[in-house]
Amino acid sequence: ALIGDLSRLETLEDQLKRALSIDNVIVVPGDSDHNPQIKVEMGKACVAHLQSTLQKSNTVAVTGGSTIAAVADAMKPLPEGTDVLFVPARGGIGEKVENQASRIVSEMARRSNSQYRMLYVPDPISDSTYELIMQEPHVIDALSVIKDSNIVLHGVGDALRMAERRKSSQKVIDLLKSENAVSEAFGYYFDVDGRVVYKVKTVGLQLEDLDASKHIITVAGGASKGHAITSYFKQGKSNMLITDQGAAEKILRG
Ligand code: BG6
Repeated sequence: ALIGDLSRLETLEDQLKRALSIDNVIVVPGDSDHNPQIKVEMGKACVAHLQSTLQKSNTVAVTGGSTIAAVADAMKPLPEGTDVLFVPARGGIGEKVENQASRIVSEMARRSNSQYRMLYVPDPISDSTYELIMQEPHVIDALSVIKDSNIVLHGVGDALRMAERRKSSQKVIDLLKSENAVSEAFGYYFDVDGRVVYKVKTVGLQLEDLDASKHIITVAGGASKGHAITSYFKQGKSNMLITDQGAAEKILRG
């Protein structure tokens, strides 16, 4: 039965590569919507992938969310001298502390014997505060480290669920509904064709910073995120998707 399960997962991975036009996919068995242990398994798979990908003195930019928090929980010590730096990809975007990127990078650094840096910016941020804060030496410095990151580790959310979780205004929620927003990542909201319909103003990595110089790892699972994952991959900036069987089957059913 185990062999059957493994070849079934491999088939799912191959089908997902074609469906989402992505080079690398890992599918863990189960559905994290129904079983929290499956998020733990995605976290472990991500750490194993990171360990084989990380090079000396790499900088890893990390977003928030419960899935990336599970990656932090699975983090293990890195070989001495690896000298990795973890940084939040963007300023906090309305998450509770456990799910904030700043908390997650400190945990990743602690568990892997590495370093981390913080990015202190208010959230949400007004246009006038944005202009001012972008003149702060601390922010300028942190931002250049973030933009130069080698690896980006991020989650994907369902658009409306994320907007509610961030306690976005009714105006924003109405806009997301009228624009048929499906997914969210990095504070950007995408429709079914992967078009950006709204973005949260915050300091840090922007979509255009996700270029070929970076290895981008997407971690997202659960059947309830199937449509969101498909939508995000329409504009597809990712080199690796780590997901679960629940999401994979949902994506392939369409
Ligand atoms: C947020 C990120 O913190 O987590 C989002 O800013 C992401 O970009 C979301 O979509 C995913 O959250 P979770 O809990 O579903 O992993």
